[in-house]
Amino acid sequence: MKIILGPSSKELGEKIADLTGFPKVPVASKIFPDGESYIRLESNVQNEHAVIVQTTSKPQDTNLMQLIFMVNAAKRNGARKITGVVPYLAYARQDKIFLEGENVSIESVAALLEKAGLDELITVNIHAETALEKFPFPTRNLTAIPTIAEYFVKKGYRNAFALAPDKGALYIARQAQQVLCGEAGSLDKTRDRFTGQTKQTGKPLNVKGKVVIVFDDIINTGGTIVGAAKILKEHGATEVYAACVHGLLVGDAEKRMLDAGIEEIVATDSVPGLNSKVSLAPLISEALRAL
Ligand code: R5P
Repeated sequence: MKIILGPSSKELGEKIADLTGFPKVPVASKIFPDGESYIRLESNVQNEHAVIVQTTSKPQDTNLMQLIFMVNAAKRNGARKITGVVPYLAYARQDKIFLEGENVSIESVAALLEKAGLDELITVNIHAETALEKFPFPTRNLTAIPTIAEYFVKKGYRNAFALAPDKGALYIARQAQQVLCGEAGSLDKTRDRFTGQTKQTGKPLNVKGKVVIVFDDIINTGGTIVGAAKILKEHGATEVYAACVHGLLVGDAEKRMLDAGIEEIVATDSVPGLNSKVSLAPLISEALRAL
């Protein structure tokens, strides 16, 4: 097995290679003045199981094209099997038709990757596992929630209340609860499909005087966390933390959350950034060793 260090996840790829001991394949990349991408594998993957580590967060389309190009390059180089490790899988949230006339974005992504020659995909906390049904080859969805919860345990927050901002994420809060050994619960959230606006409501929550960690798969604009923080403070929570796997954190998301009283934002290196305090490398390395 050889680890191809995709440009969007170079550091994560290096950590995975160091942990597993598999050789690294550096990738030269550049963006032409007109915006097109160029990549070149800097060492050979002939007859190898090539593992490409490349997240597809912002700039999604560029990172996705680079992934496709690396798959094509590995195929042309004679790799016997190609696995894509794509911690944040772009377009996974458009996995069905919500409004008439829409497309199913993840279906197109899956078709492109298959055509390029990808044999297998490993991702992390995909928004809905149903999106993986669009892939015509084996896929695996890992969960980083226990690893993130461990981060909080190490900081001394064992027994913190694990909260999901909506019912769909309750399974995430429950996974965190397994590690934190405290309580778990969820708020309710509805989204207007036309405006994208969300509305949250709190059922009676027993968070008075407690430390609460809001766990979600993605933090995008931070609106969900800001709404949750408001409700939690109203219900008497003493400290509120925000934790997610994919910290997209667009625009002033971080400032909005801190202004809303969030103590700390914790994300993984699925999306590299200042808040990527938890590395996915051990989790992914374990999954690769088991292949
Ligand atoms: C959606 O249901 C996801 O799980 C997240 O809750 C959502 O993407 C967060 O978005 P935002 O940070 O913009 O509220």
